[in-house]
Amino acid sequence: MLMEMSTEIDGKFWKDRKVLVTGASGFIGSHLVEELVRVGARVRAFVRYTSRGDIGMLEDVEESLLDEVEIFFGDLRDESAVERSMEDVDVVFHLGAVISIPYSYLNPEEVVQVNVMGTLSLLQAARKFDIPCLVHVSTSEVYGTAHYVPIDENHPKRGQSPYSASKIGADELARSFHLTYGLPVRIVRPFNTFGPRQSQRAVISTIIVQALRGKEIHLGNLETVRDFTFVKDTVRGLVKAAESDKAVGQEINLGTGKGWSIGETARIVLGLLGEEKKIVVDKERFRPEKSEVYRLISDNSRAKELLSWSPRYSFEEGLKITVDWFKEHLELYRREVP
Ligand SMILES: NC(=O)c1ccc[n+]([C@@H]2O[C@H](COP(=O)([O-])OP(=O)(O)OC[C@H]3O[C@@H](n4cnc5c(N)ncnc54)[C@H](O)[C@@H]3O)[C@@H](O)[C@H]2O)c1
Repeated sequence: MLMEMSTEIDGKFWKDRKVLVTGASGFIGSHLVEELVRVGARVRAFVRYTSRGDIGMLEDVEESLLDEVEIFFGDLRDESAVERSMEDVDVVFHLGAVISIPYSYLNPEEVVQVNVMGTLSLLQAARKFDIPCLVHVSTSEVYGTAHYVPIDENHPKRGQSPYSASKIGADELARSFHLTYGLPVRIVRPFNTFGPRQSQRAVISTIIVQALRGKEIHLGNLETVRDFTFVKDTVRGLVKAAESDKAVGQEINLGTGKGWSIGETARIVLGLLGEEKKIVVDKERFRPEKSEVYRLISDNSRAKELLSWSPRYSFEEGLKITVDWFKEHLELYRREVP
């Protein structure tokens, strides 16, 4: 396999613990499942059903690890399925969501049903079964364009897209279940995450795929700035949040504290690939002006303090691993999606 298991994770804590992961077939979810199985947890993976039995990016998980995973097919919009998935579970990681911002412009209703109502069903079931640990995964997009940087957890929230609004709704429901019913929720808020298996709608994946395939690289606004965390670091943060009682009831940013413009990022990727391709600014790829989030850079002091978490991979190290993986898996990336 391409990456080593991260150390620091408490093997004793996870041994034989029954864990539900929603969004398990996705980018971050598949890495999380892999890590949890490695440290001895018994993982149930909530996977959106298709008649092909598609398990998404879990296909890329080493077979011996995947054999240990219980696949639970269902849809987050189905309250009874969500409830059944949580029977006999000790820890829940909630990553399942419709995550594309352009798709949320087109289909806001679906986005709200999955991201908000799906989260509500999950919280209701967690309450019913008295789940002792729930990690709800938020996103830096809830902050909107930074009023100040680095962005700490007290920064105002602003739904600049239906996606962002749905995640704010989900976060607030999670918080309210902690405040009202004492549900032991941890709200963890990754800033942009990148790595192997990410869908092509994410900026780093699209840069890599276009650099490997095309003559030119078509991107939207090159000036926007993002704080990029390598997926293994994000996963370690999620796992540490579950381990820590100090994280209960908290919102916790996960990010590196450094910002990179999209233009710079594209140039670094091209440098790693040894390619000299033209970068074309494509107006079709711009978000509506007031929906654009210009700058996201995290203050990660709380993660450092409560979880003893800080990123281990530099941007370049993470990019190198990612580029190598994409070179070997380019056939998975045939089609651009919104
Ligand atoms: N990738 C990032 O940069 C990033 C940054 C911050 C936060 N996040 C959050 O992390 C989580 C995972 O994101 P990701 O990048 O892995 O995205 P992803 O699209 O790869 O994974 C999302 C998963 O949710 C599942 N899902 C969607 N609708 C569903 C439904 N109706 N029923 C059941 N499952 C459904 C999808 O099948 C997919 O497996 C999301 O909650 C996202 O908001 C991601």
